[in-house]
Amino acid sequence: MKVLLVGGGGREHALAWRISQEGEHRIFSAPGNPGMATVGENIDLTPDRIGEMADFAREQGIDVTIVGPEAPLIDGIVDEFIARGLRVFGPKRAAARIEGSKVFAKNLMRRHKIPTADYAVFDDPNDARAYVERKGAPIVLKADGAAAGKGVLICKDLRAAYDAIEQIMEARVFGAAGDRVVVEEFMVGQEMSLLFFTDGATVVPLEPARDYKAARDGDEGPNTGGMGCYSPVPLVDDALRSETLERIVKPTIQGMLGEGIRFRGILYVGLMLTNRGLQVLEFNARFGDPETQVQMPRLDTPLIEILQACSSGRLDEVDVRWKSDAAVCVVMTAEGYPGRYERGRAITGIPEAEADEGVVVFHAGTKMAGGELVTDGGRVLGVTATGPTVAAARDRAYRATAKIAFDGAAYRKDIATAVSH
Ligand code: AMP
Ligand code: GLY
Repeated sequence: MKVLLVGGGGREHALAWRISQEGEHRIFSAPGNPGMATVGENIDLTPDRIGEMADFAREQGIDVTIVGPEAPLIDGIVDEFIARGLRVFGPKRAAARIEGSKVFAKNLMRRHKIPTADYAVFDDPNDARAYVERKGAPIVLKADGAAAGKGVLICKDLRAAYDAIEQIMEARVFGAAGDRVVVEEFMVGQEMSLLFFTDGATVVPLEPARDYKAARDGDEGPNTGGMGCYSPVPLVDDALRSETLERIVKPTIQGMLGEGIRFRGILYVGLMLTNRGLQVLEFNARFGDPETQVQMPRLDTPLIEILQACSSGRLDEVDVRWKSDAAVCVVMTAEGYPGRYERGRAITGIPEAEADEGVVVFHAGTKMAGGELVTDGGRVLGVTATGPTVAAARDRAYRATAKIAFDGAAYRKDIATAVSH
């Protein structure tokens, strides 16, 4: 089969790697990365060039296109492919709004009685200030639109909340994403993410993965895209999974369908387990990163089969199975990330790391320069290992990580330690 993968990060490398293990598929990645070049061919097209992407898929006779990042989904890449009769995995624009607009997601949850923090929506900063004054702090401010993961501001006191309103709505640091804000009650609890395959009717959970968002050990330091991950997650038991499925995911998917929006793709549910029970923090319309990097090595059923069934409404016909092996991913970052960082540092040791049993190194921010592999992003590599237990996978992942070097390399030392049972 001919497969086109849209994107070029660790998530997309993990998807391409997975498919490359499933048979004689020809994989094209746009734009891909040096890791993806080892399992297929990279195409010089960025994900925002939707029309050219569809031209390429038609000219090459691509059997299925898989969209990794949220931006092209929010911009309607799936609508364009479908309009041209091309098979594609991911939600259409109207369904991807569940990630692209916090206001849309919150109002949808309110209409369908899905548990989430109490909130109000404002397009006038004075009204937002008056509401914040009445509610008090701590309080959470969220820019409505996509803001590269930076649009959520947790405000400890009123002063911080007024600053946030000023930054989002008046200084417009996130541009049009700040036309409206969601002002939301602050919740306390244990955070987790659960992801689901869906064809718009049938819903099948992925194995849970736990992500570490803070930059430094002990959950210190600024928030990042994700510093590491493990799977399975003992904290997420069957009861929690079925509660999420019944109280949150099914009402969301069915609620959207009742409003004429069929969600096909991955529904990523960010949850907080509070003393009032499960509450939704956010929805995403795509695979997680780095979650995918521990899920793909554990998937037993061919991914390509699942994704094709989702995009053609036949997910009920597929038996989605997982391996019992655990997986751990340690993300190596450039010094300074998530703040400013340098690019272009030579990377050594990946072949040595991958020589270890059960180890695969996913590329997140790398490129080739003068025949040499160099860093080209904040999150550089996802060093992933499998093993019979989380502890065994963790030891392998850290042994492999220690073999890889580049100037300024940083990583957390506590990924998958103290995993609760
Ligand atoms: P979001 O992108 O909406 O998931 O927000 C990013 C992060 O902000 C979440 O992972 C939480 O850690 C935090 N957060 C979001 N909403 C709330 C809330 N209502 N109460 C407490 N923390 C929150
Ligand atoms: N790891 C967080 C995300 O994919 O959104």
